[in-house]
Amino acid sequence: MLSYRHSFHAGNPADVLKHLVLAQVLNYQTIKDKPLDYIDTHSGAGFFELAAADAQKTQEYQDGIEKLWHHKSEHAELNEYIELIKSFNDTDELTFYPGSPKIAEHYLRRQDKGWFFELHPRDLLLLEENMQGKRSIRVRGEDGFAGLVGLLPPASRRACVLIDPPYEIKDDYETVVKTLVKAYQRFATGTYMIWYPVVDRERIDNMEQGLIDSGMRNIQLFELGTEADTDVHGMTASGMIVINPPWKLKQTMDAIMPELVSLLSEPSGFYRSEQLVDE
Ligand SMILES: C[S@@+](CC[C@H](N)C(=O)[O-])C[C@H]1O[C@@H](n2cnc3c(N)ncnc32)[C@H](O)[C@@H]1O
Repeated sequence: MLSYRHSFHAGNPADVLKHLVLAQVLNYQTIKDKPLDYIDTHSGAGFFELAAADAQKTQEYQDGIEKLWHHKSEHAELNEYIELIKSFNDTDELTFYPGSPKIAEHYLRRQDKGWFFELHPRDLLLLEENMQGKRSIRVRGEDGFAGLVGLLPPASRRACVLIDPPYEIKDDYETVVKTLVKAYQRFATGTYMIWYPVVDRERIDNMEQGLIDSGMRNIQLFELGTEADTDVHGMTASGMIVINPPWKLKQTMDAIMPELVSLLSEPSGFYRSEQLVDE
């Protein structure tokens, strides 16, 4: 049973961190002319109107992208992310927020391929509508974990992957690690990004340990805590794990994370920017 809809959460602090990292990775991966395969295992609808009922019900974007809307950072990469989101809005007002597929589409070139998996029937239809018109883009109504493994190794020999499950099914935490192990066996040089929510810290500790024990190399982790861990209510932090990151990513995130915490977090908020496994 799929009940998660990203339209309730678009533009929240978790999306800000996820898409800030995604934009930097894709920006770097598309410097070389060589073709790239981008694979989004859990795509969502791809594009969101913040005035729509779902986003208005939770208003989570007000704690995320809205707080950055008029912000000028001293870090070019944070400004570039804010400008990227602005490019999806016709006026100065924050009205629309792009999902990961639209952000990826912005970076993908004619020589690249984008693969987008989505299982929810309604979001799949929206995704198809939002991504239509480009020959290099393929939308699949199939399981993204199996889909990813099936696409590796990619014909281009260069791959950039986003794994962003809803974690509604508690097995997702383990499935992520198992899928990564299979994907890495088939293609060890890809760049893999994994988003995670901190609802129960133990699950994330286990996921991190699973990755550390897997033998994969060069793993970094970036986490934004909008408040201190608690076992009383929902998500208090979220993170992105990046395997085979661009060489400057950690240096940039080391600089940006304190600024993001001061902009998006409660006084008890925190960040992590760590090299989990060395190169
Ligand atoms: C967190 S949302 C994705 C948000 C999107 N990546 C973004 O950043 O805009 C997760 C999506 O995964 C979909 N989903 C759940 N299980 C899936 C599976 N096994 N394969 C593909 N999609 C799945 C859900 O319907 C939901 O739309």
